[in-house]
Amino acid sequence: MATKILVVYASRYGSTREVAEAVGEVLAGRGPGVEVEVTPAKEAGDSIDIASYAMVVIGSPVYAGKWLGDALLFVKKHAGALQEVSVAIFSTGLAMTEDTPENREKMAEAAQDVTDLVAPVATGMFAGKLIYDNLNLPMRLMIKAMKAPEGDFRDWDAIRSWAQGLPLPPG
Ligand SMILES: Cc1cc2nc3c(=O)[nH]c(=O)nc-3n(C[C@H](O)[C@H](O)[C@H](O)COP(=O)(O)O)c2cc1C
Repeated sequence: MATKILVVYASRYGSTREVAEAVGEVLAGRGPGVEVEVTPAKEAGDSIDIASYAMVVIGSPVYAGKWLGDALLFVKKHAGALQEVSVAIFSTGLAMTEDTPENREKMAEAAQDVTDLVAPVATGMFAGKLIYDNLNLPMRLMIKAMKAPEGDFRDWDAIRSWAQGLPLPPG
């Protein structure tokens, strides 16, 4: 029987979508029986059958210390069903450009609303991507005040090896 895996993500500027796609690709390569769907959280409808998946991976960037609303809403809506399947979560953020215990703690706090509802079997924390020119003025001002670095800091080896190491339940 196939092992079905759902990868759900939120993303404002697309960089977390690309992370979710890379995670999905690695998972799909884990075995001939693995089927992966990668879906934006806002398109994962209310009627999605969470119980039909062996694992659900949920990812979001961190904005102002929180997960994006779409990803959070997905978890809230499906909290009951998500408790019955294997769940892994990942967060992207500029905090992870410096991988320190303090920054890991900040990333964990950003996902607290999620981990209050589900107990993930794995938690990924990845450095993200920030391009000033993509931002609207309020966001640019906020980011400048935070003295956030500009660039693409995504570590694809770290992302892929996290996906490779996820404990896959039998289908
Ligand atoms: C207004 C704003 C606020 C942000 N706040 C945080 C934050 O609190 N912590 C963090 O680690 N990264 C923060 N970031 C960085 C984003 O998480 C990072 O750029 C992420 O890769 C964006 O993902 P996306 O392209 O999928 O939207 C912020 C970025 C912006 C533009």
